[in-house]
Amino acid sequence: MPNSRCVRVCQNRTCRKQGAKSVLAAFEALPIPGVIVTASSCLGQCGNGPMVLVLPDMVWYCGVRSNEVALIVEQHLIGNEKVTQMLYKRFHSGDGK
Ligand code: FES
Repeated sequence: MPNSRCVRVCQNRTCRKQGAKSVLAAFEALPIPGVIVTASSCLGQCGNGPMVLVLPDMVWYCGVRSNEVALIVEQHLIGNEKVTQMLYKRFHSGDGK
């Protein structure tokens, strides 16, 4: 199954301050078969949050807002295409296209 994925939404202190709780809630409000959404401990990228990591793709999104979650769900989790403009540049500097 192509969509057997895990979405990890950091819920540690710094990301929480940046709104990670509502980001997690937004993912939970849009359940997709085969995709597991979990709260994560610190992903080690504090200050760039809320951080979202999609596995096994190893795709990182930074500064995610709850109103952007639907786009990740539709384009990435359902459509299998990364949301380029939201990628965390530190880990995705080469794949801007
Ligand atoms: S608190 Fe989210 S990456 Fe550290």
